[in-house]
Amino acid sequence: MSGRIPRQFIDDLLLRVDIVDLVDSRVPLKKSGNNFVARCPFHNEKTPSFSVNRNRQTYHCFGCGVGGNAISFLMDYAHLGFVEAIEDLAGFIGVEVPRELDTQYAAQSVADSAAIYQTLEAVAAYYAEQLRSETGQKAVTYLKQRGVTGLMAKTYALGSLLGRFDRQKLLDAGLAVQKDDGKIYDRFRDRLMFPIRDKRHRVIGFGGRVLDDSLPKYLNSPETAVFSKGKEVYGLSELLDANSKPQRILMVEGYMDVIALAQYGLRYAVAALGTATSKNHMDMLFRFTPEIVFCFDGDRAGQQAAWKAVEAALPSLRDGRQVKIMLLPENHDPDSLIRAEGINGFEERIHQAQSLSDYFFAHLSENIDLKVAEGRARFLASAKPYLEKIPEGFFREIMLTRLEELAGKKFKSKSAPSDFKRSKKPPSQGSSLMRKMLALLLQYPQFVKRIDPALFELNDNAVAGMGFLQQVIAVINQEKPENSAVLLEFFRGHEHEKTVNALVNMDWGIAQMDAEAEFQGAMQQLLRQADDARMAFLIDKLANGGKLSEQELQDFKKGGKSNRG
Ligand code: UTP
Ligand code: MN
Repeated sequence: MSGRIPRQFIDDLLLRVDIVDLVDSRVPLKKSGNNFVARCPFHNEKTPSFSVNRNRQTYHCFGCGVGGNAISFLMDYAHLGFVEAIEDLAGFIGVEVPRELDTQYAAQSVADSAAIYQTLEAVAAYYAEQLRSETGQKAVTYLKQRGVTGLMAKTYALGSLLGRFDRQKLLDAGLAVQKDDGKIYDRFRDRLMFPIRDKRHRVIGFGGRVLDDSLPKYLNSPETAVFSKGKEVYGLSELLDANSKPQRILMVEGYMDVIALAQYGLRYAVAALGTATSKNHMDMLFRFTPEIVFCFDGDRAGQQAAWKAVEAALPSLRDGRQVKIMLLPENHDPDSLIRAEGINGFEERIHQAQSLSDYFFAHLSENIDLKVAEGRARFLASAKPYLEKIPEGFFREIMLTRLEELAGKKFKSKSAPSDFKRSKKPPSQGSSLMRKMLALLLQYPQFVKRIDPALFELNDNAVAGMGFLQQVIAVINQEKPENSAVLLEFFRGHEHEKTVNALVNMDWGIAQMDAEAEFQGAMQQLLRQADDARMAFLIDKLANGGKLSEQELQDFKKGGKSNRG
């Protein structure tokens, strides 16, 4: 969907939403002093260090350092993008997100997507209803014959298209096909229907299986304005319902596999939609879990698919992410295997799955004799282009080291892993006085009216962090944010976003009444520090035989006070 969301809308949204209600709806909060607290949903802990502040409309965890406003919370907690988070937040208080539309086309496509989502949702409900009616009995019989329980049929909203719907809407949503003769047919006629939902639980398309042996066995929705097979997987919405932060995600091949696994208690499987796994899939799934286990049939086709998946996974393998490969015994798919071995047997196999590196090197050295030099050279040459696809980091270094060992040869990596590079220290971390001043200003943007104009006269490196303080003052003066949450929005993506987040949540147990006095005090002290520094500089200059400029001389006479009375 295109069209910019007006800034004003985002600001208003942050003022209308209560972050305490929002967080509480996902993570139950307890009142504690001025704040609401809970055990942090972003890391494991026994005592609560996650705190939400109603005045500031921000949250912060003192344990793991996450923090931000209501938008940040949804982005982190529900793994949403910025725009998605705004849409959900708007939904939370029941308003529509307006768009600044650049072109006719954009207006059209936004309207279309909304209409398509509506159609898909209605059709899914209709299908599910059909399953419970007279007409759906054929599909129900089929499900029974496949050993699928009623609960699973309900959980996955299985249905059947054995009735009628508005044809044009079905066409738009990819549910109907127009033949050359102009006639319109149900794409999924006489099929058992599997709604495919995205991570936000919206129906985006369907898979449909025949009830007998006819072909094609499965049909999927075509690409539409809201559906892209290369980006979506089957079962993600249901998986997230069961656990929003699974330890691992199991990637299987079929719809029925996902359902059978869930029926036996394994709720962390998803299936590709009849396409090969892509980097898009991997990056999307890694937002929810640190580990992905690929599960493929043990036959030739399965092995080929596994290697393809490994290739697709390499560019996504940043440090901290893990991929494993699990090949099934011949003549089994996950559906049949879990029915045969139960969840314990199946999970035992998951635990024994091969690591990507083991699988990678075993696969590449198949049919190669590493005992002879030619074999080793061939091995090196074939491995190198793959390993270059892995992002810089420890994992890549480990793979390269392993390649050297196996090939018995030095294989120089071009550069050190980026993790070793030193990051620059944010200049905003000046003295504790500067931190206090910044923090109070970020927490009470209205104090900007109390800023002593002398502060603007100071050189931006008069005191460490002064440049950044002046920047914050400028943003507040220009944007006039009504609270911290709105102010935080202006620093999203800013190089000091993290620092700003931390400062917004610094607490000295100062009551609001005293905060202003503290602020004034800190500011006067800062100005004195700046004067001292200026004096020290001027004295130094004189002592070293330097000549003061007119301005410097004036400052010197006033005791370092630059341009002020
Ligand atoms: P399988 O044929 O292995 O399906 O295809 P399955 O899940 O075991 O199906 P059942 O058990 O016979 O019902 C695996 C996946 O490949 C895609 C589907 O996504 C299917 O779930 N596929 C398969 C198609 O898209 N079209 C087809 O004709 C067949
Ligand atoms: Mn099957």
